[in-house]
Amino acid sequence: MDTKLKMLVMLCLLLLTLVSLVSSFHNGCPKCGNFEVPYPFSTNENCGDLRYKIYCNNGNLEFPSLQGFHYKILSIDTNTNSLIIRPPMILKDTCSSSDLSQGGIRLDETLPFNISKHNTVLLLNCAESILRSPLNCSNNSLCRQFEDEMEEGSGCKSRLCCHYLKDSSMNSHFIRVRSGGCTAYTSVVNINPQDPIYQWNYGIELQWLPPNPNCVLENNP
Ligand SMILES: *[C@@H]1O[C@H](CO)[C@@H](O)[C@H](O)[C@H]1NC(C)=O
Ligand SMILES: *[C@@H]1O[C@H](CO)[C@@H](O)[C@H](O)[C@H]1NC(C)=O
Ligand SMILES: *[C@@H]1O[C@H](CO)[C@@H](O)[C@H](O)[C@H]1NC(C)=O
Repeated sequence: MDTKLKMLVMLCLLLLTLVSLVSSFHNGCPKCGNFEVPYPFSTNENCGDLRYKIYCNNGNLEFPSLQGFHYKILSIDTNTNSLIIRPPMILKDTCSSSDLSQGGIRLDETLPFNISKHNTVLLLNCAESILRSPLNCSNNSLCRQFEDEMEEGSGCKSRLCCHYLKDSSMNSHFIRVRSGGCTAYTSVVNINPQDPIYQWNYGIELQWLPPNPNCVLENNP
């Protein structure tokens, strides 16, 4: 390395240190109830990165969908850049998800979040037309066990239900429900069908793309 480059690297490192020092003083958001709000999440205009906007509501963190529906955040893992939100409640008498009027969950595609590949989605109370899809709607689909054994799914038993792994062949910004189609859903993170149904990790795992590093080495000789 020539000296000019060395100087550049040193300067860059110094800058990075300064930036992280400054951000640790000014950019971290205050705790929300008992929850830390890790960077880059932002609970108000003065902290975090505004592209990672979440809400602090009565000591609970909430993640907003594109339509402005708020999902409770159950956990945040900064090592894997992922967070788990609580699936919407299922209203038992109508077997409908509380976000049915929004068409399910939709993420803003201009923001750095998507739905990860670790979610198994259970679609409930589906119309016959679902059988034309490639989803598993057989009598031993995992959704049957959910309906049979979990109180929350008990209002959904009379009609078809299906499950699928939300892998890369699926739209990663959307889980869709609608009246006339499937009216309710839930999701399980890293499902192990052998585990008892009540031990499944109910949630929707989202992933985020970290903000760009501030320091880019230019004019390399
Ligand atoms: C699924 O169960 C229903 C009712 O128990 C039965 O009528 C139907 O034939 C079964 N379908 C398959 C594919 O086993
Ligand atoms: C549907 O899912 C059940 C439970 O995981 C599995 O036993 C069955 O083989 C699947 N059926 C199809 C058609 O993939
Ligand atoms: C979601 O975003 C992450 C990080 O940008 C990326 O690695 C992953 O492949 C994306 N997942 C899907 C299902 O598109």
